[in-house]
Amino acid sequence: MRLLFICFVIIVSEMCITTLYAQSQLNKRQRQNFCSDWKFYLGDVKEGQSPDLNDASWRKLNLPHDWSIEGSFSKDNPATPGGGALPGGIGWYRKSFSLPQDENGKRFYIEFDGVYRNSEVWINGHYLGKRPYGYSSFRYELTPYLTFGTRKNIISVKVDNSKQPNSRWYSGSGIYRNVWLLSTAKTAIAHWGTYVTSTEVNEQSAKIIVRTKIENGNSSVQNVKLNTLILNAFGNTVGQTESAVRVLQQKTDEITQEILIKNPSLWSFENPYLYRVVSKLEENGKVVDDYVTTIGIRSFTFDVDKGFILNGKQIKINGVCNHHDLGCLGAAINTSALKRQLTLMKVMGVNGIRTSHNPPAPELLDLCDQMGILVMDEAFDMWTKKKTDFDYSLDWDAWHKKDLEDMVFRDRNHPSIFIWSIGNEVMEQNNTQNSKGVIIAQELAGIIRNLDLTRPITSACNVTDSLNPVIRSGALDLIGYNYHINQFPSIQSTYPGKPFIATETVSSLTTRGHYDMPSDSIRRWPTPGDHPSPYGNPDYSCSAYDNCSTPWGSTHEETWKIVKKYNFISGQFIWTGMDYLGEPTPYSWPSRSSYFGIVDLAGFPKDVYYMYKSEWTNTPVLYVFPHWNWKQGETRDVWAYTNCEEVELFLNGVSLGTKKKAGDDLHLMWRIPFSPGELKAIARTGGKEVLTQTIRTAGDAAKLILETEKTEIKADGKELFFITAKVVDKDGVMVPTADNLVKFEISGPASIIGTDNGHQTDFEALTSSKRKAFNGKCLAIVKAGETPGEIVLKAVSDNLQDTIIKLKTVK
Ligand code: GAL
Repeated sequence: MRLLFICFVIIVSEMCITTLYAQSQLNKRQRQNFCSDWKFYLGDVKEGQSPDLNDASWRKLNLPHDWSIEGSFSKDNPATPGGGALPGGIGWYRKSFSLPQDENGKRFYIEFDGVYRNSEVWINGHYLGKRPYGYSSFRYELTPYLTFGTRKNIISVKVDNSKQPNSRWYSGSGIYRNVWLLSTAKTAIAHWGTYVTSTEVNEQSAKIIVRTKIENGNSSVQNVKLNTLILNAFGNTVGQTESAVRVLQQKTDEITQEILIKNPSLWSFENPYLYRVVSKLEENGKVVDDYVTTIGIRSFTFDVDKGFILNGKQIKINGVCNHHDLGCLGAAINTSALKRQLTLMKVMGVNGIRTSHNPPAPELLDLCDQMGILVMDEAFDMWTKKKTDFDYSLDWDAWHKKDLEDMVFRDRNHPSIFIWSIGNEVMEQNNTQNSKGVIIAQELAGIIRNLDLTRPITSACNVTDSLNPVIRSGALDLIGYNYHINQFPSIQSTYPGKPFIATETVSSLTTRGHYDMPSDSIRRWPTPGDHPSPYGNPDYSCSAYDNCSTPWGSTHEETWKIVKKYNFISGQFIWTGMDYLGEPTPYSWPSRSSYFGIVDLAGFPKDVYYMYKSEWTNTPVLYVFPHWNWKQGETRDVWAYTNCEEVELFLNGVSLGTKKKAGDDLHLMWRIPFSPGELKAIARTGGKEVLTQTIRTAGDAAKLILETEKTEIKADGKELFFITAKVVDKDGVMVPTADNLVKFEISGPASIIGTDNGHQTDFEALTSSKRKAFNGKCLAIVKAGETPGEIVLKAVSDNLQDTIIKLKTVK
């Protein structure tokens, strides 16, 4: 009997727990990804917002989506080659959804991480608003207009990217970032409602200050308890505090709490340790909200003499600038693709990213938090003065305050962010009589300081004299120069008492696998007879020897030597880590993507990647180039990047001598006549062999091979395989000039969503499943479907032996 009673109690209490849990889930915050099953129409639609519109013929798709990347390249597209030469236009998106009756009573919001641009949103025909800036995250409340039960709700979004050019790089068009449906109880933590900072940080302890905004959407006063916990990476509570709060009806209150953490694991590049702050809101003993903020505990300063100091240690910021596109995937955010870019950067030794020149996707900040990469978060590329005809300067007056505030509200808890930038090379830098530079810089810095005092503010300035109104305004905490490396040594006297960072450097120009001799002669200014550009070649290529740069920039080596030399230079952001669509300097049409990247558009590193790896990491590096397929007898420069002491080079077994690294050498070089065969390099330190590398002359193209880092990914409809196809000779040596057309075919639950080869003048549509190899290789990107299974990718090319690779997706 007793046993029975106990069982009964257990069963009843479990039932209670289940019911209570169900209720509390219903009342609590739910944030669901809202990207599947949208309808899309390319073009304008009369009454596209009308709930009665018949959209049956519209295309079905999942977001994030960028319609520009699906288009064809043309010099006549209004974006111009600078904007990537792809089409813009107007597009409409609609999604219908129903909500369970028992959710009536909660508050509902739709959250957009970013829509390029001029989005307008309606719910069931009610206008919610417009957001011109394509890089801001925003939300609308849906609650008053929703229906519950079986009747459907319709969200309609109009996106207008028809007025172009509006960008100096490829922007993409559409709902290109994630969309979320959020529901909360009537009493809830507000939008971006926590602000967590840490002070008195050291290895023994850290004081965490948590400011939480509580919103009371009820028509009566609410007495709530805010229980804030800090969890370590294992989910254990390492700090906690509670506060009783009374919030007036229809009001928002901010509560400040302090929590001391003992022996914190400090966030750094090597150990990007993250904590979670869980804010639980209780009403009458019931949890009504549960909000998680990810944080990292670290201290940093910018010192006038010592540069950047993280957790007490001086560190050079070895950063890169990147635009937001993901090569052949365009602007549509995909975490796998972004992670691949950031991993390429991190392996090279990058420890900082500048989000040039706009707020990034939230996923970039999450990944940088997790991977230990610092971020300079940048707001704008222009203020009131335009750089292109239809750009954000037209929206400036009405929107800049809101856009800047929203960037800081959204991003200020990320441990990776360590600088705010109010603008890039804004035209107001020129010291003209009517420049509003002083006033705007002060206004923007004031907006940020109102919301966050824990990071310095800079602006990326290419006007470097002290008359520059943006610098003169006194608004900047950190002087930021773009280029002008020759002025670096005198910065401390030009701007005494101010710390310094090189916000943008280099702008050297390279085409992967192309080498112009002599390697030690630098091209950067017109010379008679150059065609069609001073720096490049008739085939629109630029040399990858690091001997080609823009006149305003400098080569990688020239720049790094200076940045490395001076302690007061906190670091640099190289233009750019990745090639990007648009801005095909030094050319215009028929180029459509950039030459600046250390890694090409397909994600294949160019040679200089290994110079940085040899300098910025402790991994032993020996990297010898170029390839070894030249004309008999022609003179070729062979370079080696290494962090070993010396390298000995052999051609067909005969030593060409040992070269030792001396002074500030960043590469070793041998100038030799070409004869086919085998180049072998041996790198030694302290007389001991550390690494060897062999490069062989390739014979005729004979077959294809496929390579991938991963053969298994999740069947989540989002994860990606990156498969490299190489054209090789009969012995498997890559043919370094091969340009065979490769066709990819796929079977199984996955699809080919893009192909690329990193060639700036390839005009095949980027979503095509065929691609010419460029200098020996090309890439196919395969997206997992939602059902797990075996996948076979086949690569076929005329006159070459074809090949397959077996892949798998799992639940
Ligand atoms: C800079 C500019 C970048 C990019 C770069 C190319 O002046 O800030 O956005 O245009 O030049 O060299």
